[in-house]
Amino acid sequence: MINRLSRRSFARLFGTAVLAPTALATLSTTAQAEGTPSTPTARRFPQGFLWGSATASYQVEGAANEDGRGPSIWDTFSHTAGKTNNGDTGDIADDHYHRYKEDVQLMKALGLKTYRFSVAWPRVFPQGTGTPNPKGLDFYNRLVDELLANNIQPYCTLFHWDLPQALEDKGGWQSRDTSEAFANYAGYVAQHLSDRVKHFMTLNEMKSFVDIGYRDGRHAPGLTLSVDKVNQVRHHAVLAHGLGVQAIRAHAKPGVKVGLAENAEACAPIIETAEHIAAARKAMREENAGYLTAIMEGKYTDAYLAHHGANAPKFTVADMKAIGTPIDFVGLNNYTTTWVRADNSSSGYAVVPAPASYPHMMSPWLRVGPQGLYWGPKLIAEIWGFKEIYITENGASSTDTLTPDGHVYDSDRVMYLRNYLTQLHRAVSEGVPVKGYFCWSFMDNYEWADGYAYRFGLHYVDFQTQKRTPKLSAQFYKEVIARNGLA
Ligand code: NOJ
Repeated sequence: MINRLSRRSFARLFGTAVLAPTALATLSTTAQAEGTPSTPTARRFPQGFLWGSATASYQVEGAANEDGRGPSIWDTFSHTAGKTNNGDTGDIADDHYHRYKEDVQLMKALGLKTYRFSVAWPRVFPQGTGTPNPKGLDFYNRLVDELLANNIQPYCTLFHWDLPQALEDKGGWQSRDTSEAFANYAGYVAQHLSDRVKHFMTLNEMKSFVDIGYRDGRHAPGLTLSVDKVNQVRHHAVLAHGLGVQAIRAHAKPGVKVGLAENAEACAPIIETAEHIAAARKAMREENAGYLTAIMEGKYTDAYLAHHGANAPKFTVADMKAIGTPIDFVGLNNYTTTWVRADNSSSGYAVVPAPASYPHMMSPWLRVGPQGLYWGPKLIAEIWGFKEIYITENGASSTDTLTPDGHVYDSDRVMYLRNYLTQLHRAVSEGVPVKGYFCWSFMDNYEWADGYAYRFGLHYVDFQTQKRTPKLSAQFYKEVIARNGLA
């Protein structure tokens, strides 16, 4: 029921998509009568815009026990009864570990300029620290070579949630030793891949793995810690990022760029007036105070520290200096928009709560708000003067069914992507320095605790046979890439 309702309201939200056929016919007749072409002028992106797609190790690789890989917290969590939808695990996932060559050919067919993947820490250091496992790194050597041989630029994330279980056993992200272990691992990978990989991202979505994994208990490692402890975990995550940036720079070949992939709240004015825009700008800093703002400014905001009081994280001046280590680019994972209005409170803003009828995709949290792709990068560029921004993830979950003749008509995803890209186009055409976009995801994969039922891919995957089928959204995205503009 909720899905049906949300789909209807989704259509309401998306202007032209709901024009009646007669209205569309009138529009095109008028255009022709006025001597304009019947196909709309493509809204182009800047030359060299990097069109990509993304995945993550545990979500696609499978081969959980191969070539010396150690267990990660997601192996433990997903194998614990009752933790994931249908008991699904990433043991096999998309079997990408064995099928990566076939997958790279599909990427090529789509026209991808770049592919964002993550390295599984427990493949490279099965125990998290200590002796590296050369066979683990070899997989990424093969993958990177295959991508480059097909003219696809590799963008590498170092941590996408699959923490080695051995480290969790010693306190995981509750221990600052994990931040240091991460830096060692990141430096090691950068040293070995940076002759070919020129862009590294430290951690993916700190906000998600900290809040969902250590506070809400719905993701690995499934903890429900007290506020002070969660704040310390958050601090160790941003510290790991900062130490990681330093270690990558110390070990990588010259010319390598380092950033992160964070799901910063993309705060947007609910109405585009000066007062609401000013409120959204304030919200952007404060709503991201534990992550992006701390990293950009090398300090926690006064409001963040005051809000947490005695529960605030414990940190040193040196920690904050490391956290604020300058980065070369910001990666923004964006799915939803945080709507903001001006308010008379001391913060000057209020987050507008979503009513129950707010449209969302299959995942209930995935509330549709294309404007995040305009306001998110725009405010990041304005507030922190950033010159290089990527949308490191954006995409939609859908119920996706394969028709008997082998098609997936995911018109909801096509609408979603078109509307988000329209807002991104608005940003780049105003000069917001977004250099690339990575659609999540290249193929259906293991959607964490939601298992395999929640599909995000441009390619449909039959998890019994591992057959990949490009969806309608893949055709749409291929066209966008080919014309470097909206389709
Ligand atoms: C963000 C995460 O980085 C990715 O792993 C996840 O699958 C997508 N969001 C969709 O939930």
